[in-house]
Amino acid sequence: MKFIPFSVLFLFVSSFFVHASEIVVSGNDTMQFDIKTFEVKAGEPVTLTLNNTGNLPKIAMGHNLVILNKGISAIAFGQKALGAGANATNPLPDSVKDDVLANTKLLGPGESDTVTFTAPKETGSYEYVCTFPGHFAMMRGTMIVK
Ligand code: CO
Repeated sequence: MKFIPFSVLFLFVSSFFVHASEIVVSGNDTMQFDIKTFEVKAGEPVTLTLNNTGNLPKIAMGHNLVILNKGISAIAFGQKALGAGANATNPLPDSVKDDVLANTKLLGPGESDTVTFTAPKETGSYEYVCTFPGHFAMMRGTMIVK
């Protein structure tokens, strides 16, 4: 049997297992996501964690992160969700979920949620937004699929 240097073996093995993108985003009491843009690879698994790093009560300053299907604008979707009855305890009504690629639950202060999904095969920009009422104007970002 041939001798395989450990470093070569490691590269070989890691090439199979290091494809998943791990994205961590925080939302805070000033209605901001700390990450406004992130990249993932088309068709590959993504693990997305949202941390609410604020202190204000969930009912006043809850956050979620909702990634929208291609071509759906965060602003337009925020308005649509409000029109569909989005509120401080149910910010993502079922009737608008057809536009959603992936979403975390609504988080209060100090809470965290992790979701996994498969990045779309279609490359391009996918907007994301917090749909807590009043947040969509400021809490927005873009997932870039490459
Ligand atoms: Co928010």
